[in-house]
Amino acid sequence: MSTIKKIALGKNGPIVSKLGLGCMRMSSVWGGSVNDESESINTIQSALDNGINFLNTGDFYGNGHNEILIGKAIKGRRDDAFISVKFGAIFDRGQWTGLDLRPVSIKNFINYSLVRLGIDTIDLYQPCRLNDDVVPTEDVIGTIAELIKEGKVRHLGVSEVTAEQLRKANGIHPVTALEIAYSLADRQIESDLLPAAKELGISVVAFANTAEGLLTGDMKAPLAVNDYHTHFSRFQGENLIKNLEKIEVLKVLAHEKGYTPTQLAIAWVNAQGDHIMPLVSMSRRSRIQENMQAMEIDFSPNEIDLLNKHFSVGSILGGTYLQR
Ligand SMILES: NC(=O)c1ccc[n+]([C@@H]2O[C@H](COP(=O)([O-])OP(=O)(O)OC[C@H]3O[C@@H](n4cnc5c(N)ncnc54)[C@H](OP(=O)(O)O)[C@@H]3O)[C@@H](O)[C@H]2O)c1
Repeated sequence: MSTIKKIALGKNGPIVSKLGLGCMRMSSVWGGSVNDESESINTIQSALDNGINFLNTGDFYGNGHNEILIGKAIKGRRDDAFISVKFGAIFDRGQWTGLDLRPVSIKNFINYSLVRLGIDTIDLYQPCRLNDDVVPTEDVIGTIAELIKEGKVRHLGVSEVTAEQLRKANGIHPVTALEIAYSLADRQIESDLLPAAKELGISVVAFANTAEGLLTGDMKAPLAVNDYHTHFSRFQGENLIKNLEKIEVLKVLAHEKGYTPTQLAIAWVNAQGDHIMPLVSMSRRSRIQENMQAMEIDFSPNEIDLLNKHFSVGSILGGTYLQR
C-alpha cells in the first residue's frame, strides 16, 4: 500500500498530506443532489486512515451540511485531521447571493462552524474572497488574527485572491496557504500569483485540477442541456469541441503510462513542487486509492515539456476558470 507524502504548509507551518481532500461535492452547493452520506463519511475516514489529513470545506457548502458531515467523520479522531474552512459566501437555495466579510459576521460564523464540526479550533480559516471596496482587508485579516489569539483558529489562509491582495493580506498577518484553481487548463496564475506565493513562503492549495471535469477524458460534446457546465463558455458549442480535441494529448499520454487522464492531471499539479498541494474532490472511497496512485506518477523531462507546451496559457478556449 502506498503512503502519502507529507509537507509543511507555509513557512515552518503545520505538517499536512501532500494531497488534500476537497469535501465540497459531498454536499449540495449549487442546488444539485446531495451525495450518499454514509459513503461521504466513509470516504473522509478512508482518507484519514491513509494519511490524507488535509480536509477542505466551507461553512456555505450545503449551508453547513458539509461541516456537520466532517464533524461526524472526525468524531473521536480530531488529531488525525487538519481542517480548512472558508467563510464569507452567502448562499440561498443553491444560489450565491453575496459576500459577508464584516468582522461582526466573521466572529459569529466561526462559532457556528466550531459547533457543526464538533471541534475547539479550526486549523486553517480563510475568507472565500476578499473585497476591499466593501470591507477593508485590514478588518477581515485583523479579525482572523484576533481569532488566532483567542485560540479559535490556528492559521490564516486566503482564497481566490490576486497577487496584490495576497501581498496585502500577508503584510497584515502571515498567510499560511493560498487556495486557488490551478490545472493544465488554467495556468494564468503562473505569471504573478504563484511567484508571489513562493517568494512569501505561502503554500498553494490547488483546486479544480480536472478543470471542472474537462481533463477527465469522460466529457462528450454536446453536453446535456441541464448540465451545469453549459453555463461556462469553455463547455459550449465549438469551444467544447476544440477543448476536447485539445485534451487528446493528455489521454494518449495517460494511456501510454497506464493511468487515467484525471490521474495525470493531478500528477501534473503535484509535480509543480512541494509548495503546491493538489486539493481534489473525492466523494467515494475508490477515489482515494486512485488519487494516491496519481501522487506517485513521475514524468520524464520530455513528458513535462510536452504537456507544458501543449497546454500553454490560452490554449483552452472560452476563458479561464476564474472568469467562468
Ligand atoms: N476556493 C474556492 O473558491 C473553491 C472553489 C471550488 C472548489 N474548492 C475546493 O476544492 C475542491 C476540489 O475542487 P473541484 O471539485 O472543483 O475540482 P476537482 O477536484 O477537479 O473535482 C471534480 C470532479 O473530479 C472527480 N474525480 C476526482 N478524482 C477522480 C479520478 N481519479 N478519476 C475521475 N474523476 C475524479 C470528482 O468526482 P467524484 O465526486 O465522483 O469523486 C469530482 O466530481 C472542492 O471539493 C472544494 O473543497 C474551492
